[in-house]
This record gives sequence, C-alpha cells and structure tokens, in this order.
Amino acid sequence: MTKTISFILNGDEISCDIQDHWTLLHLLREELGLIGTKEGCGNGECGACTVIVDQLAINSCLFLAADVQGKQIQTIEGLAVHTGSLHPIQQSFVDNGGIQCGFCTPGMIMSAKALLDKNARADKEAIKHALAGNICRCTGYVQILDSVEAAGRQMAGNQGKGAAAAKDPGTITQQSMNKKAGEVIT
Ligand code: FES
Ligand code: FES
Repeated sequence: MTKTISFILNGDEISCDIQDHWTLLHLLREELGLIGTKEGCGNGECGACTVIVDQLAINSCLFLAADVQGKQIQTIEGLAVHTGSLHPIQQSFVDNGGIQCGFCTPGMIMSAKALLDKNARADKEAIKHALAGNICRCTGYVQILDSVEAAGRQMAGNQGKGAAAAKDPGTITQQSMNKKAGEVIT
C-alpha cells in the first residue's frame, strides 16, 4: 500500500510517497538517490547501512521507511554540508588512516557520530562498544578506533571553545568556529 510520509532529512523537510514494505535503506538509496549509505549484508549484520534516526544509530536495512514519519534522519551526505568542510570525524578518518576501500566508512562514521554527539570524550572502550555492529574487512580496526578517538578530542575542544564564545561572544567569531571545525588535533 502507498502512503505519504514527512520527515527531516539532513536538516531539510521531506515529504514523499512510500510503499509499506520499503526499508529506510531502500528509500534513501533507490528513491532519494542518497547512495552514500551502503548496502552490505542487508540483514542487520554488517553496519554498512548505519544512519542516525533521532540521535540513535540504526541499521537502515532493518528499519521500515514508514517508521521515519515525523523523525529526524542524518546520513553521511548531511555531515559536511553546513560548514563547507569535512566534519571532524570525516577529516579524522582521512588523517588517521581509518579508510581503505571505504565501503564500511559511512556506517562507521555515522555510528561514531551518534556516540560523539552524546559524549565527545568517550574512551576507547565506549568507542569499541558503539562500533561493535560495524564490520570492516580492510583496516584491522586500529586506525578506525584511533580516528574516532582523535575526532572526539577535536569535538570536545570545539565544544569548550563554543562555551567560551557564549560567555564572551567577541572572542571567537562564528566564522572562526566554522574554520576550526575542519581542523584535527593529531
Ligand atoms: S546492510 Fe544493513 S546491517 Fe548490513
Ligand atoms: S575500509 Fe574497506 S571495509 Fe572498511
């Protein structure tokens, strides 16, 4: 059966017709053309299809499109748009060798983002736990864990600067904050 749903996708309001049986992965890739989200196993085991729904990382291959009605969805395509530079997590994967073939990368980054948005100071054990559902066949995981840890340090630093700017708005301009969001602490 066809129905119309509305939701927020990467900050934009979307309204579209879907079939009851469609998964969110199908809707994103096949209907909306957002092919950054990957299809690996198709049954909830590899994490390649991970996106964020209302702040939670989920496997979009197991999530019905109908269930995104009224929700906020973030995909890998939404990460770099607003600053014009890579998100600190993306930049950190580049800088720390967290990417080889790249197939697992969008899912890894979205799982990492769901964690670091809640706790940018997450330690390695918390990072391992958050990425436990994401499989990588190339890197051996060490560089991925290093990438997420370094991104967390960067994001925590930016949050601290944001708090300082809130107290003294003249000290750090929005433009300089945006520029710093693209830098990485090594
Ligand atoms: S494609 Fe969804 S978990 Fe593998
Ligand atoms: S970089 Fe190839 S699967 Fe992870």
